[in-house]
Amino acid sequence: MKGLFFLLLFMQLLAAPVAVYKQWIPNTNFENASNWDKDRLPCANDMVLFKSNEVISVFVQSSHSLTDMYLPLNGEFIMAPGAGFAAFDGSWDPGCDTGSDITFIDAEKYKWHDPALWHAATSLADLEQGNYIFTVDEERVPCRYDDVIFQPETSFRVNIDSSERMIHLRSISIMGQKFTSDAALAEYMQSSSAKLQFHGNGTFQVTNARCPDKSGCDCGNAGEHRQICAALLGDSGTRCPALVCKGPLQLVGHCCEICGATISLEYTPGFDITQYRNRILHDFLSLPKYAGVQMAISKVHKPQSVLGIVPRGSVPVIQIVLIDDKTESQTGTNAELLAEDIMRDIAEHGDSFGIVSGTVQVATGRYSSGQGDTTAGGTIAGTIIGLLLGLLLVGTMLFLYRKGMIRLPSGHLAGLWNRKEDQDAVAGPSDKGFDNPIFDPPTNRAESHGACSGVEALKGMTSKDSGIYFVNPLYDEMEIIV
Ligand SMILES: *[C@@H]1O[C@H](CO)[C@@H](O)[C@H](O)[C@H]1NC(C)=O
Repeated sequence: MKGLFFLLLFMQLLAAPVAVYKQWIPNTNFENASNWDKDRLPCANDMVLFKSNEVISVFVQSSHSLTDMYLPLNGEFIMAPGAGFAAFDGSWDPGCDTGSDITFIDAEKYKWHDPALWHAATSLADLEQGNYIFTVDEERVPCRYDDVIFQPETSFRVNIDSSERMIHLRSISIMGQKFTSDAALAEYMQSSSAKLQFHGNGTFQVTNARCPDKSGCDCGNAGEHRQICAALLGDSGTRCPALVCKGPLQLVGHCCEICGATISLEYTPGFDITQYRNRILHDFLSLPKYAGVQMAISKVHKPQSVLGIVPRGSVPVIQIVLIDDKTESQTGTNAELLAEDIMRDIAEHGDSFGIVSGTVQVATGRYSSGQGDTTAGGTIAGTIIGLLLGLLLVGTMLFLYRKGMIRLPSGHLAGLWNRKEDQDAVAGPSDKGFDNPIFDPPTNRAESHGACSGVEALKGMTSKDSGIYFVNPLYDEMEIIV
């Protein structure tokens, strides 16, 4: 137990502030074949056309010999050292005997709020190596504590229309220059290059601030949800892809429903999202059996309602999303296994991470449409109430430590067996985690709680709308170690 404590302390020290880098993907570089309507670069005999009304900034990496080029009225070429255009001297250009018209494709259509146009990574090295993170759609677009990168040596054009008008960021890097203050960025935005790079009604605000809350910060793009999904799915009403699983899951911040699993965590102020994310990555996701599983974890504001009808604001929760690469009837089954592993881990160690409770929902392709008369389909809903841990006091750390076993009167335990609705009604978010610790010997858990002592037992007996709780084996006594 002490070993675990020091491991946790160590991980705590390692946990860097949550940093996410978002890199814009499209570019308007001259040397990018996909920017030309012939899907190749212009060759010497070609007639190179820019539409006269095109507003564009084009980065040119090398030198080109051309026969003829029509330029836009409002545009610029940014020349790398040694780059340029030379008149074609008539010498032979292999593969370009018969020149043709070749037109630069305009870049008006690229929207800041299109999730498909960004790469996200938790370090610059990962960004470079292509180790991108998986997130819900709203968080694929830059969030307010993100560093935005437009790659050096690239030109681009992006529509920053924004329904909120203001785009909050930590920083923004353009052509190798990093802006961390509004003043410097505002000055840059007046330049002729900036006017070619950005169009639309949005304004940037850069703070140079990291998320100040170690339990995480929500992305801040909820107000742009419609725009984000319209950009992703196409304004013309393109539909979400058809899914093979039963009862697909709705996620906070995502445009389409998914197959897989989602876990929603209630947490105490001691919860550290980076540390917990690392735990899942290192202890579970890195296992070979989970090779095809992807995880997203973030703080989101989950809409609440009374009896599922009347909206009642929203509460912050940690949303974990698990999807896998299985297909057909196996779709989501690997994500389901991982979700079960994570729930077991929460039952055992959740308290030490500041997790109050976890609710899991699963949608897989495993259940045939004929099976079962419950609405559950492939859905498991279960909640583990983990009670208490982490008391951090001035200069002193209290650590809960498992020792003897103490039984509570069974009447007390029965009182904990409430349905989710009841629990929501009595306990506001602020008093979670400050209940008295409940003592219960793990060996007698199944007996005390009947069928609901494990995730397995919950399968098939609950619908995704009715939460079922089971009590966490708790720490039995407190001991001060420091
Ligand atoms: C070429 O441009 C397209 C569209 O802007 C972009 O998606 C792609 O990543 C670019 N390719 C390279 C190699 O820069």
